[in-house]
Amino acid sequence: MTPLLTTKGLSRNFGGLRAVDSVDFTLMPGEIRAVIGPNGAGKTTFASLVSGRIQPSSGMIVFDGADITGLPAYVRVRQGIAYTFQITSVFANLTAYDNVALPVQRTLSDGRSKGAVQAGVMAALERTGLADRAHMPAGQLSYGHQRLLEVAMGLALKPRLLILDEPTQGLADSEIDNFITLVREIAASATVLLIEHNMPVVMQLADRITVFNAGKILAEGTPEAIRENAAVQQAYLGTAP
Ligand SMILES: Nc1ncnc2c1ncn2[C@@H]1O[C@H](COP(=O)(O)OP(=O)(O)OP(=O)(O)O)[C@@H](O)[C@H]1O
Ligand SMILES: [Mg+2]
Repeated sequence: MTPLLTTKGLSRNFGGLRAVDSVDFTLMPGEIRAVIGPNGAGKTTFASLVSGRIQPSSGMIVFDGADITGLPAYVRVRQGIAYTFQITSVFANLTAYDNVALPVQRTLSDGRSKGAVQAGVMAALERTGLADRAHMPAGQLSYGHQRLLEVAMGLALKPRLLILDEPTQGLADSEIDNFITLVREIAASATVLLIEHNMPVVMQLADRITVFNAGKILAEGTPEAIRENAAVQQAYLGTAP
């Protein structure tokens, strides 16, 4: 099987800091991969490199067999890479519906077909449990629901790779159960890269876990192997909330 995503020697410097440091990473199609690691480990920077939001200092990114290193983010979106931000980035003054309508319109060859837009928007809102809040201004949704709205916006792009950056931040425990179900459903038709600090969520969802520390991959393996890895415990798990 060909990997869906590979990075080779991927690095990104900010001034003198190597936020991502020579990362060799492989993701197989259909996988749910969790990325964990302490604050500042480089997880968001890595996801931003894959999505094309920022450019690498060196190294290479291959998606579905093609070198995408030099492609702008909007072209990567068209190729099937969708990304939700760690910081909520919904349009507060637009309704939940209209926030999702924006990415839906981008996926349709005729973005003005009202019926197709409506079907796409409502499907994404229903999957994320937000259908009954469709006409609320996004800024009036709870923080957790704004995070789910971002997931809906990502889903609306019908991605092959969905990158979620701390999506459960701000969700209530009852909503986290729904979120776990949602990610499993998403994984039936897409590959998921899940940056997440909530270890119960990671342990329940991940096929494999990649641990970042100081810009490098410290360890990679099944949830069981990672839980028992002494270096991981020292760098991260022992101090996790
Ligand atoms: N735009 C930027 N300019 C300068 N430094 C940055 C920038 N973005 C990230 N950094 C630095 O790069 C390092 C990695 O940051 P990053 O946000 O990738 O970590 P993270 O693993 O996502 O952390 P967290 O768990 O807190 O979200 C940190 O030291 C951070 O301060
Ligand atoms: Mg981050």
